[in-house]
Amino acid sequence: MSLKEQFGKDVLLTGWGHSKFGKLTDETLESLIVQVSAEAIRTSGLEPRDIDEIYLGQFNSGMQPLGFTSSLALQLSEDLANVPATRTENACASGSAAFQQGVKAVLAGTAHNVLVIGAEKMTDAGADVVGAALLGASYEMAGKASTTGFTGLFAEVAQHYEKRYGAGISNAGLGDVLGSIAAKNHHNGMDNPYAQMHRDFGEEFCRTVSEKNPMVAEPLRRTDCSPVSDGAAAVVLSVGPASGAATEPVRLAGFGHANDFFPAERRDPTEFAATRASWERALGMAGVGIDGLDFAEVHDCFTIAELIMYEAMGLTPRGEGSRAVQEGWVYKDGKLPVNVSGGLKAKGHPVGATGVSQHVIAAMQLTGTAGAMQLPNARRGAVQNMGGVGIANYVSVLESV
Ligand code: COA
Repeated sequence: MSLKEQFGKDVLLTGWGHSKFGKLTDETLESLIVQVSAEAIRTSGLEPRDIDEIYLGQFNSGMQPLGFTSSLALQLSEDLANVPATRTENACASGSAAFQQGVKAVLAGTAHNVLVIGAEKMTDAGADVVGAALLGASYEMAGKASTTGFTGLFAEVAQHYEKRYGAGISNAGLGDVLGSIAAKNHHNGMDNPYAQMHRDFGEEFCRTVSEKNPMVAEPLRRTDCSPVSDGAAAVVLSVGPASGAATEPVRLAGFGHANDFFPAERRDPTEFAATRASWERALGMAGVGIDGLDFAEVHDCFTIAELIMYEAMGLTPRGEGSRAVQEGWVYKDGKLPVNVSGGLKAKGHPVGATGVSQHVIAAMQLTGTAGAMQLPNARRGAVQNMGGVGIANYVSVLESV
């Protein structure tokens, strides 16, 4: 059943903008927000005065001194005066939180056109400040000293996974499977002009601990981690297309959101249970199974997250995610290409921007405007964005019109 049948109207992505991701020394949080907002509004065929509401996804958590950023997008135009604007925060899923708030405003009929932005400026702060800010998304570690930061938390997930399922991984150990995921995403990132890292490291490099690829937190090497990044992305959500839009719109077919309990002891570390629930909700609303997708952009903040994602999304049974890599399913020419953009791993992970970026990349795929990233016959795809260690989970199913 379409959203139109369920809620009486469609939600369309009518325009989008995306900044380069990376260490952007010449940009500020404000300049990034203004840049992508202007591009999204222009490509939607609308004018700033047509925007009824704004949602900005940003985590911050101390990485920027300005803690009140909802009005920054108004800097774009006098015509945005008095437009309601709200910042959403749900850790690394802050961008998708903004997206789903925008969707709900359109479905509620309180807005016809919503500007959704995701933005983060991480590299102005020192590594210790960034590390402490990210640990603010952990129930146990917020405010505590750590030498391994957020990587340490996902390393624990990988250790539990190895203990439970490692023996069943054929032909390679968990470390090699994670290395293959890293190599795949770095290879894909070569085709993404917005990506922070254009380095085709290859399997051997990603699988091997070396001076250039040190262990950050056992078993996660540097290449198993997403980098620290600046960047922004924006989309315009509308009830109908505007004349003058740069491309065909993209239709939202389903969306899901599920939060898990925060204390680690209340979760099985090898299963992202609420992530699974968000997939089931989104696919259920769209009325499709996982085999109805032509591609997925998923939250590979660390390679172990992408591996467990294969299981949470229903691509493989639990403990068998490695098959999706080893049997080639998730490569660009596989049955479900995953992270053709390079994922967070190569594209970069400016945390609040990530969820919106994933929607923009998916919209490009579905309108045949993804350039070198373009997949043949991409008609329906999914986006999955996660805050914390499987805590705040969002999935969207998008399709060509
Ligand atoms: N993957 C691959 N290469 C990376 C990288 C990454 N994630 N991060 C940095 N590099 C490269 C740099 O390009 C640089 O290469 P060069 O020497 O050839 O120029 C080199 O590694 C050193 O860069 P530097 O920034 O000094 O690395 P670092 O060791 O300080 O940081 C990490 C590396 C992995 C620790 C850091 O990126 C990190 O903390 N990532 C996780 C961020 C995070 O937790 N996000 C939230 C997720 S939920």
